[in-house]
Amino acid sequence: MSLTFDQLLRQANTPADGLTPAADARPAYPAARPRRLRQSPGIRAMVRETRLAPADFVSPFFVTHGRGVRNPINAMPGIYQWSPDRLAEEGARLAALGVPAVLLFGLPASKDPVGLENFAPDGIVPQAIRALKAAAPELVVITDVCLCEYTDHGHCGLLSTPASHPQLAAGTILNDETLPVLARVAVAHAEAGADMVAPSGMLDGAVGAIRAGLDDFGYPNVAILAYSVKYASSFYGLFREAAQGAPRFGDRQSHQMDPANAREALREAALDLAEGADMLMVKPALAYLDVIRQTRDRFPEAPLAAYNVSGEYAMLKAAAANGWLDERRAVLETLTSIKRAGADLVITYHAADAAGWLRAG
Ligand code: PBG
Repeated sequence: MSLTFDQLLRQANTPADGLTPAADARPAYPAARPRRLRQSPGIRAMVRETRLAPADFVSPFFVTHGRGVRNPINAMPGIYQWSPDRLAEEGARLAALGVPAVLLFGLPASKDPVGLENFAPDGIVPQAIRALKAAAPELVVITDVCLCEYTDHGHCGLLSTPASHPQLAAGTILNDETLPVLARVAVAHAEAGADMVAPSGMLDGAVGAIRAGLDDFGYPNVAILAYSVKYASSFYGLFREAAQGAPRFGDRQSHQMDPANAREALREAALDLAEGADMLMVKPALAYLDVIRQTRDRFPEAPLAAYNVSGEYAMLKAAAANGWLDERRAVLETLTSIKRAGADLVITYHAADAAGWLRAG
């Protein structure tokens, strides 16, 4: 039942809408043989729709006080807590691999209810920023802006006490009271040389408060990468160990999103853009590829990052360590899927390895 050349030509010349040949008018098998475009590496490369490159990655780093420190993190093989001096060396190595940016999380020397080190000019993150900028000036430095790593209670905001807010249950997150703290943290990071700040607490109004704070203090060019769409996920456990930021009681469900919701994600992203977000983020990545795609389609103007989080990293590392998966292929396939879903950037603990593999070809 193969069509003659004349029949094919007639079909191709009679588009249903005057522009596009109707789907059923396109040649079918045996004229159509999609495998033609898969038969050699050269052809496959020509028709590849999604290309992964080191320039797509942002590498997260945990920074701790001291010198010469490189503490491994349990269940995240290859990931460490670094002191600023060692971080600077690692940052230079990453930049040489073509990875453009890092995302910093700080471990303070001590914790308190407000998280004072979070906005101290000589706090751990400002130290790390300066060390990185000296060692690898081309590296874009993004900093996490949240309270949970710095507060003794491990929550992402200031908490009510019976004395301060008798009408609230003790330990309620005080959204509006926390916003000036977030703005101060962002300004402290900007003063130290951060290029971009990333509020991760999902508090309402955080992006607007940080934008206003940065502008007031003379940092209109410091950008905001908003954790606009962050789910209350089971995949963050290892990060909380690495960053020592687990809540002492309760959980984060009063501010992080319900994994069942996608329409709400679009509302969050729209609000953050209206408040001045320069880039959006969806987090985690793998269980939320549909949300990445919807966010990309709804907001074509906004650069979109996706955070391939600690639990997602650990899953592949554990399977690879057992010989159950080919690590290189599984990691590159995973990162490609996140980009194909619509992310421009992938924040990933695989960044250095993946960049090395991609460069090796
Ligand atoms: C909070 C923060 C978390 C992560 C990034 N920023 C943890 C949380 O919200 O509990 C998780 C990242 C990961 O799992 O890799 N500042």
